[in-house]
Amino acid sequence: MANLTQEINRRRTFAIISHPDAGKTTLTEKFLLYGGAINLAGSVKGKATARHAVSDWMEIEKERGISVTSSVLQFEYDGYCINILDTPGHQDFSEDTYRTLMAADSAVMVIDGSKGVEPQTRKLFKVCAMRHIPIFTFINKMDRDAKDTFDLLDEVEKELGIATCPMNWPIGSGKGFKGVYDREKKQVLTFSDTEKGTKEGHTEVIDVNDADKLVSFIGAEAQDKLNEELELLEGAGAEYDLDMVRAGELTPVFFGSALTNFGVEVFLQHFLKMAMNPSGRKTASGEVVDPTTNDFSAFVFKIQANMNKAHRDRIAFMRICSGKYDATMNVKHVQSGREMRLSQPQQIMADERKILTEAYAGDIIGVFDPGIFSIGDTICAPKENVRYEGIPTFAPEHFARVRQMDTMKRKQFVKGITQIAQEGAIQIFQEFNTGLEEIIVGVVGVLQFEVLEYRLKNEYNVEIKLEKLPYEYIRWIENDTEIDLARLQGTSDMKKIKDLKDRPLLLFINEWSIGMTLDRNKDLKLSEFGRNDDI
Ligand code: G4P
Repeated sequence: MANLTQEINRRRTFAIISHPDAGKTTLTEKFLLYGGAINLAGSVKGKATARHAVSDWMEIEKERGISVTSSVLQFEYDGYCINILDTPGHQDFSEDTYRTLMAADSAVMVIDGSKGVEPQTRKLFKVCAMRHIPIFTFINKMDRDAKDTFDLLDEVEKELGIATCPMNWPIGSGKGFKGVYDREKKQVLTFSDTEKGTKEGHTEVIDVNDADKLVSFIGAEAQDKLNEELELLEGAGAEYDLDMVRAGELTPVFFGSALTNFGVEVFLQHFLKMAMNPSGRKTASGEVVDPTTNDFSAFVFKIQANMNKAHRDRIAFMRICSGKYDATMNVKHVQSGREMRLSQPQQIMADERKILTEAYAGDIIGVFDPGIFSIGDTICAPKENVRYEGIPTFAPEHFARVRQMDTMKRKQFVKGITQIAQEGAIQIFQEFNTGLEEIIVGVVGVLQFEVLEYRLKNEYNVEIKLEKLPYEYIRWIENDTEIDLARLQGTSDMKKIKDLKDRPLLLFINEWSIGMTLDRNKDLKLSEFGRNDDI
């Protein structure tokens, strides 16, 4: 089975995490350019389509197509088969963005050099850190004025709590950006902007000890500053340690400029070597399944509803965890015990969907879902009985009370809202003391409120009114023994709620209230992630 092992081991499946505008799309385009998946950078997704107003998004089904299309990009580079998982940002930011990270083996973190660590990066980083996946940092936009390099590294370490190891070192930034120093090869790579129609500008490679040549390219001032900084760095920076990188404890940092294509290919090459091939996934009972075993297994991490009324189907995205998938085989949906063929398995490429005939551990496939899959479900070979550990529930940050306009349609309302929650677009909660009458909806990105309103109206013929609530933080109660919520001493603006399984949760307006509540209830254990171990 050397072939199977080889196929699997040459796969690299990763997500790019960043704050909007840091340059994720630009970097992805450049990766694809090197992979030959596209001829000219700029066709991953048109800027116009990526930034459509919410209302357009609702109207145009094609938009959905585009958003589905960019769910995963696969391309070949230097013998590797690369899967890039899209983590929607901008208005599309939702719980799916977090769930996508559950399907990645590593993450590339793009930071805008002038801005440093920004909120969305922080949130996505937390999820990666929870999984201990390797994280590779690309500090982008060095052709614009950037923060001091030491300060940037310090910010990553302090704000995110991960050690950094710069693999290269920038020489200036903005108008004074001269290039980067490769610490391993002890060479300076000079920067020049791209000229129209070219992939990248001309780069000169200079040995750092060739002082005369170096001065003639970067100038004496930049050279002095570089020497000074490198001396400081020797005393300060963490040593490169591949084991720590792979354990998610140390992030290698690269500097570059995606737009001008400077430092991108070097980054890609290093990344591919350091990042891991598909790693084994844990089952609910704690065993780890070897990805290279013969038996196929996969788990569902995302379900995408079709917004087109004429095709009310859904696509379930699954990450293959072991073995090989081929379109003719039967599989078992573990949660229902049903044996089936996965229909219309498709792999989503940069600009087209293609029907797949085979795929390997590490790959993502999207299959037609007749309404049986839920997030976290396992699919495996019929004779096997693998059950992967569930996907956590991620903390919503926006909450609203839902009121139904026509109380006669209670049944449709409950059916609709429960189904939409089951797909994972929203989370529903109840008041702590009352029954289902009062429903509170929580979402990660505000767009999901509009999706809810739109879908209830169009698919279930139910009109609702959303009354926004001021809470921004939700915490699950993690205590092993049951806590008497009625006696819990919180702050005056804290709200007690429960989920549909009657598990208690707390809503807070700010982090200060969380701290106060923990102070007042010494035994209370709170978590930002909801466990999803129940089937
Ligand atoms: P995102 O996917 O992370 O949201 O970012 P995206 O790649 O769309 O990049 C955001 C903007 O930053 C784009 O500008 C893009 O051209 C620019 N950009 C990306 N990488 C670099 C870089 O290395 N250097 C510089 N100088 N700019 C970069 P835009 O949409 O064309 O214009 P605007 O958003 O600035 O108006």
